[in-house]
Amino acid sequence: MIIIGILASGRGSNFEAIHESILKNYISSARIGVVISDNENASVLKKAEIANIPFRYVDPTLFNRTRYYEHIVSVLKERRVNLVCLAGFMRIVKKPLLDAFPDRVLNIHPSLLPAFPGLDAQKQAFDYGVPLTGCTVHFVDEGMDTGPVIAQKVVPVKMYDTLPDLTTRILYAEHKLYPYVIKLIEQNKLKLKGRRVIQIENDVKLPG
Ligand code: GRF
Repeated sequence: MIIIGILASGRGSNFEAIHESILKNYISSARIGVVISDNENASVLKKAEIANIPFRYVDPTLFNRTRYYEHIVSVLKERRVNLVCLAGFMRIVKKPLLDAFPDRVLNIHPSLLPAFPGLDAQKQAFDYGVPLTGCTVHFVDEGMDTGPVIAQKVVPVKMYDTLPDLTTRILYAEHKLYPYVIKLIEQNKLKLKGRRVIQIENDVKLPG
């Protein structure tokens, strides 16, 4: 059984997509153990409350950086989490978290990494003028959006796209890609060889 801990700072649409994919049995052997936010007013906390999922605001001003992540680890362990999913968590995660969950911390990013890491990735791609962009789910390391890439979904930039149009289509792709990767992990289909993520006999389909 996969027990997911979600770390998020804002809206929480990826949390909702993951939650829904469990409710719909797309991911059959998983549950969300806790949602943690560094932002007291984040909508994701309200969404977790409505969904009846344990949630916790962990105030970053009360700890130094190392202690902050040690505290988050203690909350995750208390909830028996064994897979950590960053979903719009606006902080670089530190060693205590990565060491506590080796190769079990994922992130979703709204571009085709390694292109356009960091903030406003959709705008970076739009302004650059690329014809194709998309989203990436990757393992998290200590860098910013630098960990091994697990899966990507391509989103074409259409001729008359505005930035909001493109952002909406990328977000829609994110909501398919994150559950898909969690399902790959649930079914033990991933193997990490150095920076390369090998998919073993992968017959998993994206959610409909
Ligand atoms: C998403 O675009 C994700 O790729 C990025 O932050 C955004 C979070 O959105 N890392 P939401 O809070 O899941 O709606």
